[in-house]
Amino acid sequence: MTKLNWGMIGGGEGSQIGPAHRLSAGLDGLFSFVAGALDHNPEAGRCYAQKLGVASDRAYGDWREMLQGENAREDRVDLVTVATPNSTHFEITKAFLESGYHVLCEKPMTMTVEEGEDIVRIARKSGKICAVNYGYTGYSLVRHMKAMIARGDLGKVRLVVTEFAHGHHADAADADNPRVRWRYDPKQAGVSAQFADCGIHALHMASFVTGQEVTKLSADCASLIESRVLEDDAMVNFRMNGGTVGRLWTSSIAIGRQHGLTIQVFGEKGGLKWMQEHPNQLYYMPLNGRLQTIERGEENLSPEADRATRVTIGHAEGMPLAFANIYTDLAEVIGAQKEGRSVDPAANLYPKSEDGLRSMAAVAAVAKSGKEEGAWVDARPPMFR
Ligand SMILES: NC(=O)c1ccc[n+]([C@@H]2O[C@H](COP(=O)([O-])OP(=O)(O)OC[C@H]3O[C@@H](n4cnc5c(N)ncnc54)[C@H](O)[C@@H]3O)[C@@H](O)[C@H]2O)c1
Repeated sequence: MTKLNWGMIGGGEGSQIGPAHRLSAGLDGLFSFVAGALDHNPEAGRCYAQKLGVASDRAYGDWREMLQGENAREDRVDLVTVATPNSTHFEITKAFLESGYHVLCEKPMTMTVEEGEDIVRIARKSGKICAVNYGYTGYSLVRHMKAMIARGDLGKVRLVVTEFAHGHHADAADADNPRVRWRYDPKQAGVSAQFADCGIHALHMASFVTGQEVTKLSADCASLIESRVLEDDAMVNFRMNGGTVGRLWTSSIAIGRQHGLTIQVFGEKGGLKWMQEHPNQLYYMPLNGRLQTIERGEENLSPEADRATRVTIGHAEGMPLAFANIYTDLAEVIGAQKEGRSVDPAANLYPKSEDGLRSMAAVAAVAKSGKEEGAWVDARPPMFR
């Protein structure tokens, strides 16, 4: 496969998610990191990109300069990752898609449902990929969970229970910490804080593993640190289009919880449980059977799981390798487009702009339902109703 050119916007020195993207994109030798506008401070961005090996003429001061610079080149980047703060995702993603680039955008894809619909339309019109980084769906055993459910191991899925609850904003003193405060301020964060930041990972995971879409939801949102305007805790009940009932808890004040993403699926013939902090084990309980631990890398897993695993059983694979599976999928799809060959259908598991839009509709629905004391609200984007 041709090695692809990759560029990044955001993810500057000291950023949280930038290093994970660089590790993931570089892991399988499918992408070369050749361009970047990495920082809100142009000089810091240029310096850091060069420190990471980007040539000086492609170490850009800002994303507009990068777009102009890359447009002028024959060897322009094939894929751009947008890892800037949320409020900038829409304009950057839109601009790059419209100029004919494939984009992997961090979540949340946009700030509003309308912007999300725009991105879906633009991506469809341009024929370019707009992926959204629900990177936890790249884990081998999450893909195995999806495969087991699709082949009927659980029978009809009755219930999905998912959580993304951590305790990292639990200190009341953080109410005045500028690095935390903005997240709970509607002027900067939009209509939702914790659900838009973490809850959407859990909700997307529920759709990914069950193959069903969320149709409606009812939310109880709370600001447990009282000075916060937006929620730091939410309990969301939802329904899916295949008849599955869903429960989701998300929190940022759950002291003692670290990352806290877990998913359990209960069907008529069995149950499954997976936890992001222990991603190399999947727990399977067949009805009237015995609890089984499925290990990542063991024999006779699904092709989807095998394709998403690199090291042998008993050696932990973690988050950057899960993200790398999203990059591997994208490399296959982009490579096939460039080379005019058919795409390996197994690469079609990466999250798409339609998923990003569904999340934005869920965010809007949670905010509305939360304000209306848990009223059930349509959670589908208007363009998919
Ligand atoms: N998918 C995941 O699991 C996951 C995890 C963490 C964060 N995220 C998302 O990634 C994004 C970034 O989060 P983070 O925690 O790394 O933030 P951060 O504040 O740690 O880093 C943001 C980086 O973007 C740079 N930046 C800001 N504005 C810019 C601009 N206009 N042009 C270029 N660079 C700019 C900053 O200088 C900084 O280097 C957010 O949207 C967040 O929701 C996703």
